[in-house]
Amino acid sequence: MDDLIINMKNVYWKNGNRYILKKINWTVKQGEHWAILGLNGSGKTSLLNLINGYIWPSKGTVSVLGKNFGEYDIRELRKSIGMVSSYLQEKFYTTETAEEIILSGKFATIGLYNRISFKDHKNIKKILESLDSLSVLKKPYCILSQGEKQKVLIARALINAPEILIFDEPLSGLDIFGREYLLSYIEHLARKDKSPTIIYVTHRIEEILPVFTHVLLLKKGEIYLQGEKKDILTNENLSGFFETPVRINLNRNRFILTFVD
Ligand SMILES: Nc1ncnc2c1ncn2[C@@H]1O[C@H](COP(=O)(O)OP(=O)(O)O)[C@@H](O)[C@H]1O
Ligand SMILES: [Mg+2]
Repeated sequence: MDDLIINMKNVYWKNGNRYILKKINWTVKQGEHWAILGLNGSGKTSLLNLINGYIWPSKGTVSVLGKNFGEYDIRELRKSIGMVSSYLQEKFYTTETAEEIILSGKFATIGLYNRISFKDHKNIKKILESLDSLSVLKKPYCILSQGEKQKVLIARALINAPEILIFDEPLSGLDIFGREYLLSYIEHLARKDKSPTIIYVTHRIEEILPVFTHVLLLKKGEIYLQGEKKDILTNENLSGFFETPVRINLNRNRFILTFVD
């Protein structure tokens, strides 16, 4: 089917003797934006690694952008997938400039082996401007603040105008202003006409943005619930998910979770 961005059928992923992901049946369609919510260790990053082809399913099938796993060049496909995670932050050679790191996203590699063309340079400037961060362009990555580093990684993820944009707990290490800036940037991006499909992973309900249409609750490697945001984010569902009574409230279009005594 043409409009399927991600399609996982009965996917299991085993590491050693242990199943980290089980019975994953999940489809993402064009026009949807998903939040994936789960506690630490529930398998969120592993699920993302399946999309990127960093890991392969032990059972079941994964197709991304209509390409079946194992039947295409993953390195080519990765150019259509932008990824922002704090894990990536540590993987870069720190003496490279922000511009070099952003450009490396074009080839979906860590490290840069090609020179920067004028066209790329202009494109990078445009993206950094949209992030209010043009000043970092020629600076070495290592001297940047946490918030600036995260913006560089977003610019890197955007350089290929990806069809899928993945955020894996992107707010870690950011102060409240950095967090709110990034969240409103994502909200704004997702509202654009030709927005990439956004997959946003978090353990915090507060980060689920108005623009996200769907929510997947992941628990101990299995899908606990998935569907439209309004159907999933209820007091009853979340109390069951967390195995403790909780209540959610809306505040300025964002959710707040509180424990019920
Ligand atoms: N490459 C790996 N090797 C061994 N265990 C792993 C690997 N990746 C993840 N795990 C284990 O799988 C579980 C889920 O991890 P992860 O997907 O990182 O969860 P989350 O992102 O939700 O915190 C954890 O128990 C973790 O220790
Ligand atoms: Mg993780």
